[in-house]
Amino acid sequence: MSHYLPLAALLSLLSQANALVRPDGVGRLPALGWNTWNAFACDIDDSKIMTAAEEAINLGLKDAGYQYINIDDCWSVQSGRDPNTQRMIPDPVKFPNGISGVASEIHGLGLKLGIYSSAGTVTCAGYPASLGYEKIDAESFAEWGVDYLKYDNCGVPASWNDQYTHCVPDNTNGARLPNGTCPDITNPAPPGYDWSTSRTAHRYGAMRDALLSVNRTILYSLCEWGQADAKEWANATGNSWRTTGDITPDWSRIAEIANENSFLMNYVDFWSHPDPDMLEVGNGDLTIEENRAHFALWAAMKSPLIIGTPLDSIREEHVAILKNKHLLSFHQDPVIGRPAYPYKWGYNPDWTFDPVHPAEYWSGPSSTLGGTLVLMFNFEESAKNRTAVWSEIPELRGSAGNHTGYHVTDAWTDKDLGCVKGEYSKTLQSHDVAALVVGKSC
Ligand code: GAL
Repeated sequence: MSHYLPLAALLSLLSQANALVRPDGVGRLPALGWNTWNAFACDIDDSKIMTAAEEAINLGLKDAGYQYINIDDCWSVQSGRDPNTQRMIPDPVKFPNGISGVASEIHGLGLKLGIYSSAGTVTCAGYPASLGYEKIDAESFAEWGVDYLKYDNCGVPASWNDQYTHCVPDNTNGARLPNGTCPDITNPAPPGYDWSTSRTAHRYGAMRDALLSVNRTILYSLCEWGQADAKEWANATGNSWRTTGDITPDWSRIAEIANENSFLMNYVDFWSHPDPDMLEVGNGDLTIEENRAHFALWAAMKSPLIIGTPLDSIREEHVAILKNKHLLSFHQDPVIGRPAYPYKWGYNPDWTFDPVHPAEYWSGPSSTLGGTLVLMFNFEESAKNRTAVWSEIPELRGSAGNHTGYHVTDAWTDKDLGCVKGEYSKTLQSHDVAALVVGKSC
């Protein structure tokens, strides 16, 4: 018997060695939940949060696995901290029973509560934030019964600015080339610079240490927009880490972020989740195809899936997308941590960085689906044909020849497509996606 671990198992162990492993599996799989920001921005209160929690139950989202109900920016008294305790004070008008009151109601429904702060002196909307108060704030959050902290990157004093600038194509000032480089950034880091020594990494590390010192497991969601090359250190700091600037409910923005995040798939595994920002499913003028494609991409990339639309007015077809059992089962695989990878770019040559046309053909193994998830996208502006050729798909290669058949299920309609030989073609509307569960050979 060989004593060598298979390469995939070895890589997975290595990534865990570097990861923030928490009790009870918290952060092992990408989070599922809801957040106030994309739905309501600063216009939040107790009743909106409880409505979201109750609707998450009524709509079957809780049963589908969504468990975190997260309060974003603007929850505290804006004028400052308690002068005696130095604690942040929940806004008494928005939250008459405090955050602890909301937490006990949320817990009573079998859900978990998230909160928000920033690694600066003020949040992005100008509320008190946690730089220098990490311990006090972590203690308050733990005492209130908070289960999740999103930690933003606003209000950073000049003395905490990083020495160098890292290129994040969508949100670094300066001209950028289509291949994702930022040629005009001032002060790029010298080759070999270790971003885990940056001031940003220290700011985020301070809150990690504070959270680890309190007597409650609080999932730690970093939101530094990828600016200090988070992929090099954030996995050891938090449970998920934002990779880009903010999402908006526009197809062009969603495609731009998806393209950028698609190049980080080697960083996804158990305990390690790059975060391309919260979902916009149900928001703006996104077509049904765009809502589907957005969700399928985020699920396939094993990104946190945090819903951002008002749940008391969400349309049924959007709920159905968010509850898609095949995609959620792929996303929450307890045995396989890696995401789907692009196996072919399609519209572009492989490995092309294109904010308008991300990779179109994706596949990934699943222990729960009993086969391979295969996605085909049409990122063009008109209907196009797309074909999944079995022999091109890494998970099927070896067994797949032109005559090999596989049992295929359409993940959107749940329809059994029978034994499909060689390849599967479909005409896709602009910005739509085909999602296939490719099972046993036949
Ligand atoms: C941004 C963050 C958003 C939202 C907002 C609140 O920096 O990326 O997701 O939290 O701040 O002001």
